Amino acid sequence: MKKLQQTRIRIWFLIHCILSILYLSASASPTTSPLCNNGLKVEHPYMTSDVTEVEGKSFNYIIIGGGACGCPLAATLSEKFSVLVIERGDSPYGHPTILERNKFGYPLVETNKYTSVAQEFVSLDGVLNYRGRVLGGSTAINSGFYSRASDAFNKKMGWDEKMVKQAYEWVESKVVSAPETLSPWQSVVLDGLLEAGVLPFNGYTLEHVQGTKLSGTIFDVLGKRHTAADLLGGGNPKNIVVLLNATVSKVFFHHDEDKAGDKPSAKGVKFIKSDDDTKKSHKVYLKKQENSSLPRGEVILTAGALSSPQILMLSGIGPSKHLQTFNISVLADLKSVGNRMQDNPAISLLVDSKPKSRTPDTPQVTGITENFKVILESIIVPVSKDLTRVSIAGKLAFPASTGTLELKNKDPRENPLVKFNYLSKDEDMEYCVKIHQLVEGVSMSEAVSVYLGRERSRLEKLGKEESKEYCKKNVSTFYHYHGGCTIGEVVDKDYNVYGIKGLRVMDGSTLVESPGTNPMGTLMMLGRYQGLKIVQGRSSS
Ligand SMILES: Cc1cc2nc3c(=O)[nH]c(=O)nc-3n(C[C@H](O)[C@H](O)[C@H](O)COP(=O)(O)OP(=O)(O)OC[C@H]3O[C@@H](n4cnc5c(N)ncnc54)[C@H](O)[C@@H]3O)c2cc1C
Ligand SMILES: *[C@@H]1O[C@H](CO)[C@@H](O)[C@H](O)[C@H]1NC(C)=O
Ligand SMILES: *[C@@H]1O[C@H](CO)[C@@H](O)[C@H](O)[C@H]1NC(C)=O
Ligand SMILES: *[C@@H]1O[C@H](CO)[C@@H](O)[C@H](O)[C@H]1NC(C)=O
Ligand SMILES: *[C@@H]1O[C@H](CO)[C@@H](O)[C@H](O)[C@H]1NC(C)=O
Repeated sequence: MKKLQQTRIRIWFLIHCILSILYLSASASPTTSPLCNNGLKVEHPYMTSDVTEVEGKSFNYIIIGGGACGCPLAATLSEKFSVLVIERGDSPYGHPTILERNKFGYPLVETNKYTSVAQEFVSLDGVLNYRGRVLGGSTAINSGFYSRASDAFNKKMGWDEKMVKQAYEWVESKVVSAPETLSPWQSVVLDGLLEAGVLPFNGYTLEHVQGTKLSGTIFDVLGKRHTAADLLGGGNPKNIVVLLNATVSKVFFHHDEDKAGDKPSAKGVKFIKSDDDTKKSHKVYLKKQENSSLPRGEVILTAGALSSPQILMLSGIGPSKHLQTFNISVLADLKSVGNRMQDNPAISLLVDSKPKSRTPDTPQVTGITENFKVILESIIVPVSKDLTRVSIAGKLAFPASTGTLELKNKDPRENPLVKFNYLSKDEDMEYCVKIHQLVEGVSMSEAVSVYLGRERSRLEKLGKEESKEYCKKNVSTFYHYHGGCTIGEVVDKDYNVYGIKGLRVMDGSTLVESPGTNPMGTLMMLGRYQGLKIVQGRSSS
């Protein structure tokens, strides 16, 4: 039975490879291949880190944070409007640890406080976590696994099916590739998942379907990473200016000009040079519409689930009591800012007996099981500058536990305080035990044992109570944390901040629930989708 299954997969994969080779050679121009961007030349917008080139200027849109959501949004808005993207980090181009698949994971072991492309943070739960600090955001440091969200998720969000599909395709044509072959380790993981009963095998698909599948990746067949920054050229790059190495410290508002009783309206943004300790701040403004019957420009926060709530609070939008302890004058007492922080609890087993020098490996194969509630993946990840470990891991897709985010101080470069309360709800703990058992199942599979041979770690099957203990001690993360500016509490369904004019938030912080699958695809799609809605809305008004 097992043999038969494996033979079937091998044959499937062989056919898939032949077909994709035929397909690739048949398509004369690289742009006709929807899933392969190799050789595609990316046009970049103007980028500078010289604050004097931007200071005092004005733009139709100011996008704070050039990450998964911010870049496609900026590109889309640039088709009609002038756009400034302010990014606290450097450009990703020219960083081999970002761009090369065989250097995957190295940014995470080379962090420092203010300048490294990955920023480390430890939640108050004690779990080590990371976020991108570079143009492209966390897509520049992540594992590159690409998948669309399920139809059920799109329905829940109330999104237009056809527009969602088009937005996904726009993103995919620019940054997503299909795996041409599986790495030796990913083939072993594929066999291990099937052996552990994560069925059916769905072959290669970008859709979020139950069972075991191969998915897309932002690494192309030459092993080069395509970050969200590559999407910036997808509109009219001449309308975009990217200011690098500049950290936004707050959004400021029109007070005097607005009639009493009117909502405060965003006027511009204050920022500092990211490496400047003098805290000298600079200002940039929203363009005034010459035609007063047209809406004013907007500031859009796309700084990710940690920074977006942090910047709102620093701007005086948040729970008033908390803001007052930092002497921040309150503009809007929006109590839900920083609420509903979530991270998907994860369990990972190291299946090699000891750290070793190997080429890192990114996930290509995934197991989606337990009625979509559990996601299994595996990577070979650096643990130091020259050693790696082999990890098989699972995450809970929809945790019930939620946490909170608060300011630690007023420095926008520092991490806020965040607590996810992993496994605090009983049902999450029940699932964690289940995940531990599933990960054990894959780890102890014949495929994994045969492949690792003597390098395999000694694993003992744990009982339920022991599994619980393991969960308590060893809960970790897939880095899919979200929340803090959720839809319905902080922003409305068009991502406008409640009670404020000209200010939206659009990124992982707005998710009330994780998209189930790895979130990057959904967040890049969201930037495109909402960008189009803004452009359409303005041309019809
Ligand atoms: C290690 C790791 C592995 C992951 N693996 C995967 C994976 O394989 N597949 C997947 O789908 N997802 C993965 N993810 C998750 C995914 O990358 C994130 O969910 C996604 O990038 C979040 O998008 P975002 O737009 O909310 O924020 P981000 O992409 O993080 O973008 C936020 C941007 O804002 C900038 N910024 C923040 N504060 C400021 C400020 N004050 N001023 C100016 N700029 C600011 C940041 O530097 C950053 O560029 C991973 C994440 C990590 C960290
Ligand atoms: C941004 O800052 C980093 C770290 O200080 C530096 O290495 C890099 O050259 C800067 N980038 C630009 C475009 O100035
Ligand atoms: C201002 O915009 C409105 C609505 O688009 C348009 O009808 C009007 O002609 C514009 N006026 C000027 C002076 O451009
Ligand atoms: C807030 O202001 C008060 C009075 O000016 C001062 O005593 C206090 O130290 C300030 N607190 C912070 C956190 O800056
Ligand atoms: C799990 O946690 C324990 C206790 O903190 C630690 O000793 C052990 O190394 C951890 N195991 C893994 C696989 O991380």
